[in-house]
Amino acid sequence: MDDVTALILDDHAAFRRGFARLDDARDVAAQRAVWEPLALHLEIHAEAEERIVYPHLLRRGDHAHDETDDAIRDHNKIRDAIAEAGRHDVGSDAWWKAVWEARKENSEHLTEEEDGALPDFRRNADRDLRADLAQQWLRFYGEHPSGRGLTFLDKDPERYIRDNG
Ligand SMILES: [Fe+2]
Ligand SMILES: [Fe+2]
Repeated sequence: MDDVTALILDDHAAFRRGFARLDDARDVAAQRAVWEPLALHLEIHAEAEERIVYPHLLRRGDHAHDETDDAIRDHNKIRDAIAEAGRHDVGSDAWWKAVWEARKENSEHLTEEEDGALPDFRRNADRDLRADLAQQWLRFYGEHPSGRGLTFLDKDPERYIRDNG
């Protein structure tokens, strides 16, 4: 039986590998081949967390308000950096700057999520819920191949917490 927090960790590992692969991408074609799927995966992952996981954390976590506020702010910073990268030619200095910003924000966020929100969620969500959300997570990815039908917009943290708490 899958656990949604394990599926999240799988994605986090993929993000770390993706950014590391960029270090070895020597030309524009190689950089684009790594970056475009990585950026899309980052976007879909944040959207999946916001739709499927954080609403449940908000209702039962011990420090859910602060953890959710931090997560939405971080997701916004990652979305902004991805959008900025999209405004520049792959491989240009401005593109690398934006990609590096996405990498830095993402690395900080993964650590916070793995050491804060996810432990809180595991402590307060039973196995059935974690398994049910894992199914929802997999279905979400299946229903939105390559992000089809999704929009990746920044969210106001306070409004998100109000609407989902
Ligand atoms: Fe995550
Ligand atoms: Fe996240």
